[in-house]
Amino acid sequence: MSDRLPGFNTLAIHAGAAPDAATGARATPIYQTTSFVFDDVDHAASLFGLQAFGNIYTRITNPTNAVLEERIAALEGGTAALAVASGHAAEFLTMHALMQPGDEFVASNKLYGGSINQFNHSYKNFGWSVAWADNDDPASFEAAITPRTKAIFCESIANPGGVITDLAALSQIAKKHNIPLVVDNTMATPYLIRPFEHGADIVVHSATKFLGGHGNSIGGLIVDGGSFQWAGDARYPMMSQPRPEYSGMVLAETFGNFGFAIACRVLGLRDLGPALSPFNAFLILTGIETLPLRMQRHSDNALTVATHLSRHESVSWVSYPGLETDRYHALAKRYTPNGAGAVFTFGLKGGYEAGVKLVSNLQLFSHLANIGDTRSLIIHPASTTHRQLTDAQKTAAGAGPEVVRLSIGLEDPADLIEDLDAALAG
Ligand SMILES: Cc1ncc(COP(=O)(O)O)c(C=O)c1O
Repeated sequence: MSDRLPGFNTLAIHAGAAPDAATGARATPIYQTTSFVFDDVDHAASLFGLQAFGNIYTRITNPTNAVLEERIAALEGGTAALAVASGHAAEFLTMHALMQPGDEFVASNKLYGGSINQFNHSYKNFGWSVAWADNDDPASFEAAITPRTKAIFCESIANPGGVITDLAALSQIAKKHNIPLVVDNTMATPYLIRPFEHGADIVVHSATKFLGGHGNSIGGLIVDGGSFQWAGDARYPMMSQPRPEYSGMVLAETFGNFGFAIACRVLGLRDLGPALSPFNAFLILTGIETLPLRMQRHSDNALTVATHLSRHESVSWVSYPGLETDRYHALAKRYTPNGAGAVFTFGLKGGYEAGVKLVSNLQLFSHLANIGDTRSLIIHPASTTHRQLTDAQKTAAGAGPEVVRLSIGLEDPADLIEDLDAALAG
């Protein structure tokens, strides 16, 4: 082979994988085992002391999960990755490696609602606090930075869709203040946006969504961009200080540009425990093999359906950056030229009742709280995920009574449009 790097489609199928050395199995086997036999006592000692790479126990490493880790690192262009039990676990272990009690981070106000909850409430128990910034106003991120700020967090394409983040602008601010930029790339996947190319330092994923892509397994991933200089920076003791857990080893010195991924694994995953089942790793790997095909089709279908809805008499607005008239279209052209993803929101002229009627009438769309399936999905946030909020709070969260969110699947767009038209008329 030449020195040329393989293309994205090739990496999606091959990165990290090889025929199984023991059996020749071509698909990556599911190593459904809790633990691994040591060669001898010295081998065991070197594994426990981090002097050698290898498998001890599936909470920390597993050969099926390792293929998934290598594959996502290759697709994102990072130095290393860590597979964990869910997207939330990926966010949590990332923050665990970055934050000490009393520390802060600045987060975009346009995030998946579960992340907003996690940051506002659960993280308080660890003494970590979040400052919210306006995703459309990079200066508001800078204004929220204090001497205790340890990271900036955003989504590349923000859930519930329709928002594109100016990653380069946020990266500039992060670099100026010498803090890492953490990007949740769930909605875009590396097929649409590769955040490291725009200055991100760490990428996290809910692999539950488009990476797995078939609505059958929960999983999460952390990818180390290898760009942040942890060594010698006492603000980040997990990476930069001698670790008592490993006889005083300094992870950033021993592991260099993948020290962050190692810290997440040997301090976070080892001690806090949200390990990914190898079976789920297998399903997510299988999903990733068709990621480029699926993401292109998701985006093309979403544009077709969004265009149709934008002209529909029952619809007051559509928020999809793929539409030329959309306020985020210029950012979409810059950051995601192949398409703006599968997920978008729209407003119904008939308000709350029309939303309830629509989700009840649809036949092909599934009414459920997920995105990133082969199947098309719909949710009416005001009657489900945001039900407990007042109308004013719903509107502030982008979940007003008239708002509907779609995650467009891989079906024939004509069938999706027919289903929507019939349900809107019904
Ligand atoms: C953008 C985004 N990040 C993180 C998560 C959390 O992922 P998980 O459900 O795998 O924990 C989700 C879930 O919907 C999401 O949409």
